[in-house]
Amino acid sequence: MTPPYSIHPTDHIPLLAAHVIEQVSHRAIRRRGVAHIALSGGSTPRALFRLLADEPWRHRIPWADIHLWWVDERWVPPDDPESNYGVCYALLLKHLSHFTAHRVLTEQNSPEQSAERYAQELRGVFQLGPYARPRFDLILLGMGPDGHTASLFPGTAILNERKALVAVGHAPQPPHTRITLTYPVLNRSAYDLFLVTGASKGPALQQIFTAADGDTSLPAARVRPSRGKLHWLLDESAAAAAGLLPSGKSPPFAPV
Ligand code: 6PG
Repeated sequence: MTPPYSIHPTDHIPLLAAHVIEQVSHRAIRRRGVAHIALSGGSTPRALFRLLADEPWRHRIPWADIHLWWVDERWVPPDDPESNYGVCYALLLKHLSHFTAHRVLTEQNSPEQSAERYAQELRGVFQLGPYARPRFDLILLGMGPDGHTASLFPGTAILNERKALVAVGHAPQPPHTRITLTYPVLNRSAYDLFLVTGASKGPALQQIFTAADGDTSLPAARVRPSRGKLHWLLDESAAAAAGLLPSGKSPPFAPV
């Protein structure tokens, strides 16, 4: 089945994502006193980070009660320009008066140790038993032109990981070594929200959205939360390149 999606002007995507973050976090905090949100890296989220760092969003989002996590991280130091945490810190976190960030500690001796350390932090903070999986309130995801998401790349063995919460991924483009959440975590989320912009994503989107049976051969298409909301926010460039315009058939977007 085709995943739910909606099509918007490029500059509307960060604003819509900000509204989702605001509504999801306030609801989670009302219910449990805390919200857990996982962020992706890459270029698409940068406009969102800049928006959230500025007024009114800097004070509209209840940052003091949000735990921020990373969907994936490159195996580089946190001050490296390729670091997903580093980019988020530079564009957003350093402008906040208070935040709780659980970054992937890439200073460990090996990527495997970083992955295990991150999994231990997930288990500890979510207070999980040895076989339980964390349920995020919101996971923001992107998609590469090859249909990867997180650091789950086509043809890699970790696509089949069903037990580990965190794994070591290998990207075709540098930095090649990545630490990534796995499908057991992504598909346990209360809300998986894709932000996909740009014509380069067209062929992968077309494969995902126009295949009659909802092709799940691409990694991004395998994100299907079992008990959660899934939505793809597409910009007009990506949608046009995928043959999804005119957008008459995409229903209006309801943030939560
Ligand atoms: C990363 C991301 C990755 C990203 C896609 C899309 O570490 O690069 O987590 O999964 O979401 O590659 O990247 P763009 O937003 O740059 O197109």
